[in-house]
Amino acid sequence: MNNIVWHHHKVTKAERAELKSHKPAVLWFTGLSGSGKSTVAGCLEELLHHNGVHTYLLDGDNIRHGLCGDLGFSDKDRVENIRRIGEVAKLFVDAGVMVLTAFISPFRADRQMVRQLLEVGEFIEVFVDTPLDVCEQRDPKGLYKKARKGDIPNFTGIDSEYETPEQAEVIVKTAQLSVEECAQQLLSYLESEGYLP
Ligand code: PPS
Repeated sequence: MNNIVWHHHKVTKAERAELKSHKPAVLWFTGLSGSGKSTVAGCLEELLHHNGVHTYLLDGDNIRHGLCGDLGFSDKDRVENIRRIGEVAKLFVDAGVMVLTAFISPFRADRQMVRQLLEVGEFIEVFVDTPLDVCEQRDPKGLYKKARKGDIPNFTGIDSEYETPEQAEVIVKTAQLSVEECAQQLLSYLESEGYLP
């Protein structure tokens, strides 16, 4: 980048992390619309918060009101959406926070790009593996119905691709387990991998 020089701060990332009892990381939830990403992430955030973990939840629908309010659902816009979220998540990790993100993030290359933005162990891919027919049956926002009628172009799973994760650290099955059980599965993962005290 021309004429722009990185400025090193006096307080380091490691020093910020030391103030907390947990390691900073990104729990990157990915899955179809209606798969349960936000619901499980929200439940896990509550559990973590009550356990003294400094969390922040970045959620697709909310972020698209502000930071990514100019983006739609073309492949190009989705790539930019995930690029911005990746950069924001990295800043939060730099600040020492346990970040939870809930975006469809349908493309493997973009999830890989975010993984590479972060240090080893800071990116935890969580595949919310809910079959399309279950998501479509749930249809909490009535979007699948609209998409099937052709009212929403480029709808993930219908006429826009979702690329299943190949290297997810955790796979949660919301069609088989309750929200609380999925959140507990993730909490156990964080404990066993040494993220939590
Ligand atoms: S992406 O693909 O990661 O950029 O999408 P994301 O930012 O997570 O936004 C997904 C939410 O937007 C609503 N919505 C759509 N989803 C998929 N495809 C199309 N065309 C679309 N249009 C609107 C939908 O409510 C998604 O929310 P979730 O929570 O995933 O159901």
